[in-house]
Amino acid sequence: MQYGHFDDLKREFVITRPNTPYPWINYLGNEDFFSLFSNTSGGYSFYKDARLLRLTRYRYNNVPTDAGGKYFYIKDGDVVWNPGWQPVKTQLDEYECRHGMGYSVITGKKNGLKAVQTTMVPFGARAEVTRLTLTNESDADKAVSLYSFIEFCLWNAWDDCTNFQRNYALAEMEFEEGGAVIYHKSEYRERRNHYAVYAVNTKVDGYDTDRESFIGLYNGFDHPDAVFEDRPRNTNARGWAPIASHCIRRHLKPGETVSFIFVLGYCESPEDKKFVAPGVINKDDAHALLSQFRTDEQFEARLTELKNYWRGLLSHYTVCSGDEKLDRQVNIWNQYQCMVTFNMSRSASYFESGIGRGMGFRDCSQDLLGFVHLIPDRARARILDIAATQFPDGSAYHQYQPLTKRGNLGVGSGFNDDPLWLIFAVNAYIKETGDLTILDEQVDFDNDPSLRQPLLEHLRRSFRYIADHKGPHGLPLIGRADWNDCLNLNCFSKEPGESFQTVTNNDTGIAESVFIAGMFVCVADDYAQLLTIAKDEKEAAYVREQKALMVQAVETAGWDGEWFLRAYDAYSQKVGSHENDEGKIFIEPQGMCVMAGIGKDNGMAQKSMDSTEKYLEYEHGIMLNWPSYTTYRLNLGEISSYPPGYKENGSVFCHNNPWIIIGETVLGHGDRAFDLYKKIAPAYIKDQKLHRTEPYVYSQTINGADSATPGEARNSWLTGTSAWNFYAISQFILGVKPAFDGLTLDPCLPASIKELRLHRSFRGNEYEITVINQAGGEKGKVEVEVDGQKLDGQTVKAEPGKGRTYQVLVTVR
Ligand code: GLC
Ligand code: GLC
Repeated sequence: MQYGHFDDLKREFVITRPNTPYPWINYLGNEDFFSLFSNTSGGYSFYKDARLLRLTRYRYNNVPTDAGGKYFYIKDGDVVWNPGWQPVKTQLDEYECRHGMGYSVITGKKNGLKAVQTTMVPFGARAEVTRLTLTNESDADKAVSLYSFIEFCLWNAWDDCTNFQRNYALAEMEFEEGGAVIYHKSEYRERRNHYAVYAVNTKVDGYDTDRESFIGLYNGFDHPDAVFEDRPRNTNARGWAPIASHCIRRHLKPGETVSFIFVLGYCESPEDKKFVAPGVINKDDAHALLSQFRTDEQFEARLTELKNYWRGLLSHYTVCSGDEKLDRQVNIWNQYQCMVTFNMSRSASYFESGIGRGMGFRDCSQDLLGFVHLIPDRARARILDIAATQFPDGSAYHQYQPLTKRGNLGVGSGFNDDPLWLIFAVNAYIKETGDLTILDEQVDFDNDPSLRQPLLEHLRRSFRYIADHKGPHGLPLIGRADWNDCLNLNCFSKEPGESFQTVTNNDTGIAESVFIAGMFVCVADDYAQLLTIAKDEKEAAYVREQKALMVQAVETAGWDGEWFLRAYDAYSQKVGSHENDEGKIFIEPQGMCVMAGIGKDNGMAQKSMDSTEKYLEYEHGIMLNWPSYTTYRLNLGEISSYPPGYKENGSVFCHNNPWIIIGETVLGHGDRAFDLYKKIAPAYIKDQKLHRTEPYVYSQTINGADSATPGEARNSWLTGTSAWNFYAISQFILGVKPAFDGLTLDPCLPASIKELRLHRSFRGNEYEITVINQAGGEKGKVEVEVDGQKLDGQTVKAEPGKGRTYQVLVTVR
């Protein structure tokens, strides 16, 4: 069953039924203020940090789902309804939700009254702004009451859902303009110098700020007494649960439209000017904010500005391939998701509470692959933040907190793949920008300025950390885990609830990872090249030498006969071998080793890809391991804690599918690579109901063949899948690869694509690229012409900032 479709011209996804198989959300905000916004107007807002500065409350894991949001209740005669259907769930005559780039528009119609709710987080405003228009499409006069509703969170979202004995006493409010402007100032009297405002640009007929008075103690959001009785209580909340609701009553003639602008804002006062009178807060910041959203013209201008921003951003890489699904995936939704993962990392989604994880060392480094071409300056800053949390010995905290930018030991360290991701990210950044100055940036170790060293030294320690921590087979020690957080080979946990990520109780100094070995080889060539550019030939030679040793170790101790082994456990037993009873083959080493080119010339790589297809692939993608574990394995850890076919235990963990896609391109198999790409790319989803999560973005997992619910996706939006798939399609299939010295054209296309056009902005120049594919579905010989001149090789040398447009013709024979 279908619940929506794409509107590519507007860059929107159009949801046509409100009761989607799961809430389908959008992200609003590009700077410091963010909202999660569902297709039924559920969700919440925060400033900078979803845990510490949360403006509105949201109930995760609630019945019914998606409880809490920015609601508008309309009372028209005896009927109460919401434009977004929830929470009253009155059957609407028409419903539509359009999720666009940084804004959403919900349209609801009932009994001849049409409501259009447009919500955005504008640039330069610490606020979510909504315009609500009501149009009387009937031929009779209407007397309509509109009630807005939001529920405040007491800022710290963790405390807010645990510390009731204190919190029920805190709420304090202020009002202006007869209740049109409502201030939430809990804790402002003490150590906070910030408050929230919820305001509307019109005269109101009443308001409420006490939840219980507005809704009724034993009612749900679906039956607020004040609305059903059409009688606002004009309450001033003292403790309990503060909300903000405006009541607006209007008469509408046939054909008449009215519109209102609602602003939910975060405001600050200077420390020494917090109060203008005893107990009265300084509202200057709020007034400045609200003055920007008084009129429809002001609102329109800001929405246009937002749309123009996205049009500009998404013009850096575009494709016109003749396959409209591919085009929308590449040109719109994949890049949009990459920006959202840049903003959120893994902190706030409908599956991540916003009070748990910080920024992952590995996650942030990989996410960079997807947004470095969009926002190189912010990518640069991100790299420096990440590197500053690195330990002096080259290893890393697994996560850091966005507000403090400090490493967080609470979630552990010693994931031995982490250091290599930093090299990976820096390679990608320099290839995109050519900015070698980043290597000389002085960056702290462990946020300690006395340990400051150039970034290049950070990379050196990263690489050497792996080279210097090898096990009995000459393969890298795995530490707590590698990319697979749940393959915990030194943690033998028997305690319910104990964290697999922080417990290491049997580190025999033996458990090794073939995945890390593959990754080490995968980054080595680029890294060595970078060292040469940085004039450190000695280190470059060392890197090449270490790489050769590692390749040798993988080809001997890391090869199982038909595929690459996964690991050796704490007793030096094989993991991911045909000798094992379950978990015989794993995707990660196949992807990483083949991407690295290991075994390309001796047949191992091809065998590895063949085995991947044979054992791991199924209808909905490539699964992580086969067979899934059916019992808990003390020597393997969290992976075997999941039932078969879920999460790290045999689901399609979408993040690593592009490794195989890239692996196939390394071997020249364009048709295979593109088939695999289409298997998990959202634009190609056939059954939206089965898939469940948003059909316009990647999810972390799709339940595997061994699960009870194959094909169902989980954990949408915040996943490294987004960056990796963009990397795979844009650089390896379509073949536009930034290189240190220029732009390399190296497509590996399916036979179905005979010709395509690409546009790429790169280091201040524009490239109009035409690709003619005469090779079919296997990679051919690539010839490149630039402005009519045949090129020697495949790289158009960079001429930074010339403002030139190059006409590039790529012929694959
Ligand atoms: C999650 C984590 C990521 C990890 C992956 C596999 O996506 O964010 O860091 O690599 O799971 O365990
Ligand atoms: C990975 C997994 C996740 C797990 C986390 C920490 O990110 O995907 O399920 O909670 O590791 O163990």
